[in-house]
Amino acid sequence: MRSGEIISFDDIKAGYGRSRILKGLSFSVREGEVFGVIGPNGCGKSTMLNVLTGTLCPSSGRLFYREKEISGLPSYKRCRLGIGRTWQIPRPFTGMTVYDNVLTGAVHGAGESVKQSREKAEKVLKETGLADKSRIPSGELTLLDRKRLELARAMASGPEVLLLDEVAAGLTEAETKEIMALVGGLRERKYTVIWIEHNIETMLKATDRLMCMADGRNVICGDPGEVMGSEIVEELYLGKD
Ligand SMILES: Nc1ncnc2c1ncn2[C@@H]1O[C@H](COP(=O)(O)OP(=O)(O)OP(=O)(O)O)[C@@H](O)[C@H]1O
Ligand SMILES: [Mg+2]
Repeated sequence: MRSGEIISFDDIKAGYGRSRILKGLSFSVREGEVFGVIGPNGCGKSTMLNVLTGTLCPSSGRLFYREKEISGLPSYKRCRLGIGRTWQIPRPFTGMTVYDNVLTGAVHGAGESVKQSREKAEKVLKETGLADKSRIPSGELTLLDRKRLELARAMASGPEVLLLDEVAAGLTEAETKEIMALVGGLRERKYTVIWIEHNIETMLKATDRLMCMADGRNVICGDPGEVMGSEIVEELYLGKD
């Protein structure tokens, strides 16, 4: 792992049952950068996050967080180290209020005292624009607010690295602008961000580097303009002809 890097995948292979999905995935993310990830449906982007957060165990390869190998750590320990995720399809605890959802992130994710967790939850609710809705049951939220809540709950767990899985998917153009403003502000809050998105135009405005995955591998990674202009990305998205 090179200095300045915070996450590193080294030849990771992983899958579900007999299906092999990640077929030797290697890439590194630098501290403080917004690292975009694109690739065709089913190529393994969300699976990569499952491996990183520890919900899926790789069959081989090594995974590093700073200098530490985390391949064998359970999810809650990775969360306490500083890895927080949002889900592609929002997963709020629907029977609980917005506030309690965020508080859960702080209490269980960060493992702080109840007093500290309450302060953290209130701060994060303000930052994500949910303060007025904190007493509403989360099941009653609109999609945009559920996406905000995903972000809020992850932020409450005190991460250094935030993993965003298609935060803009399913939103209208106006809603996308709102969520983008929120994500754009994450850099100023000093998070490292790994951001998977199909709405590429939206994401490109905010990314430092971009990786394109295909068939469980990193096919190209680097300057977003160069990646988007590459033959391999053109082929993947437009077809050879
Ligand atoms: N829990 C699971 N059990 C079995 N197969 C799964 C599971 N989750 C994902 N898959 C399969 O693994 C492959 C990769 O899925 P993954 O969700 O990582 O793709 P993705 O790149 O995130 O796609 P998308 O852009 O559609 O979100 C797909 O073929 C998918 O059907
Ligand atoms: Mg996905």
